[in-house]
Amino acid sequence: MSNSKKLFLRSKRVIPSGINSPVRYYDPYPFFVARSQGSSIWDVDGHRYLDFCNGYGALLLGHRRKEIISSVSAQLKKGTLYCAPTEIEVELSEMISKNFPSMHKVRLVNTGSEATMTAIRLARGFTKKKKIIKFEGCYHGAHDYVLVKAGSGAAHNGISISEGGLDEVSKNTLVVQYNNSQELASVLENEKDIAAVIVEPVLANMGLVLPEENFLNDIRRLTTENESLLIFDEVVTGFRMSTGGAQKYYSIKPDITTLGKALGNGFVIAAVGGRSDVMDMLSPEGKVYQASTYAGNPISVSAAISSMKTMNKYKTKIYPMLEKKCKSLVSSLRDIASDLQIPHQINSISSMFQIFFTEQTVVDYSSAKSSDQTKFRKLFNELLKNGIFVAPSQFETVFLSYAHSNEDIDKTIVAYEKALKTVKR
Ligand SMILES: Cc1ncc(COP(=O)(O)O)c(C=O)c1O
Repeated sequence: MSNSKKLFLRSKRVIPSGINSPVRYYDPYPFFVARSQGSSIWDVDGHRYLDFCNGYGALLLGHRRKEIISSVSAQLKKGTLYCAPTEIEVELSEMISKNFPSMHKVRLVNTGSEATMTAIRLARGFTKKKKIIKFEGCYHGAHDYVLVKAGSGAAHNGISISEGGLDEVSKNTLVVQYNNSQELASVLENEKDIAAVIVEPVLANMGLVLPEENFLNDIRRLTTENESLLIFDEVVTGFRMSTGGAQKYYSIKPDITTLGKALGNGFVIAAVGGRSDVMDMLSPEGKVYQASTYAGNPISVSAAISSMKTMNKYKTKIYPMLEKKCKSLVSSLRDIASDLQIPHQINSISSMFQIFFTEQTVVDYSSAKSSDQTKFRKLFNELLKNGIFVAPSQFETVFLSYAHSNEDIDKTIVAYEKALKTVKR
């Protein structure tokens, strides 16, 4: 029996379903990790995988990036948690604000879920309105405000509204189709109680779905006209699309932004920030409450400062190189799938892509759902056998990291070719 299997059986006895986040499970059991470095991850049976799951997008710079490891090591010697303010928190917030000029003020939190929960509460407190609008298939974390027709693991496991969630909460979350500005306009027209519209500017939790031309501009215009706030959930796109996120990429200024994942490049940190008048609603000066023991802890903050410094310093190399590698990988995959006459779509932008086994152009939740998931499962299993680790779900995205070499990309193309041949059978 493999070591992973042994660990899984042991794990199932003490951890529900044997894993600590549902997206990590796949049949018959996931590999258990021993260590990681650069573009690779090793399991407890000694197999090496090229990692394209990359912490669901967090590891933009790859595993154990040297600058980050050394600043965290230095901070470890000075302390791990003070629960009193530090200069480095101020420095990090200044850096975030500089990279994201719409984020006049920033609160550091731990997870993307905390960031979106705070953003929504802030929007309600500021506008004195009750409801929010989200888009079908967008995932903003695992709390009741947003766990309505969500993507990611919720879509994968067919959970539209979680049991245990309160109807009183979810009925205040209205859902509109992604890329459907007309539907958004009509909901905003009919509902006068909308505090905010929250959106993933590029939807990375339904596979990858790109915003159609004008969609994001339409949301900005419609929210302003209706005196609702616009929340850009940039937990994935934040540092992935540029050092100033999707908002810089598309030149749109949201009222509130949430960041996470690549902010810490493998360390636990997230942020919520936005207009000063909105952010000043936060307690203790304001009356919107938010708090956390580990918020702004010096380990995560030192990791984030180092990540941001690295991303800023090498941005003219990192982003064009990632995009180039992603484009070349995707173009090879398109050729292979077309030669094999497999109906497919590949959506791609920056350093992200996903393949869907469908004839339909994938622009929203229902077109993403039209993809043949049995084929995707086959693809995933074969990729794994060939040393490529992508997220084990159709409703996730494949992420490249700066640590992927040209050789890694070549190996990946070969593995996809083998895997797609199996899908064809
Ligand atoms: C766009 C987006 N927002 C929020 C979250 C929640 O972040 P976390 O898992 O850190 O709570 C995620 C997680 O995948 C996400 O993709």
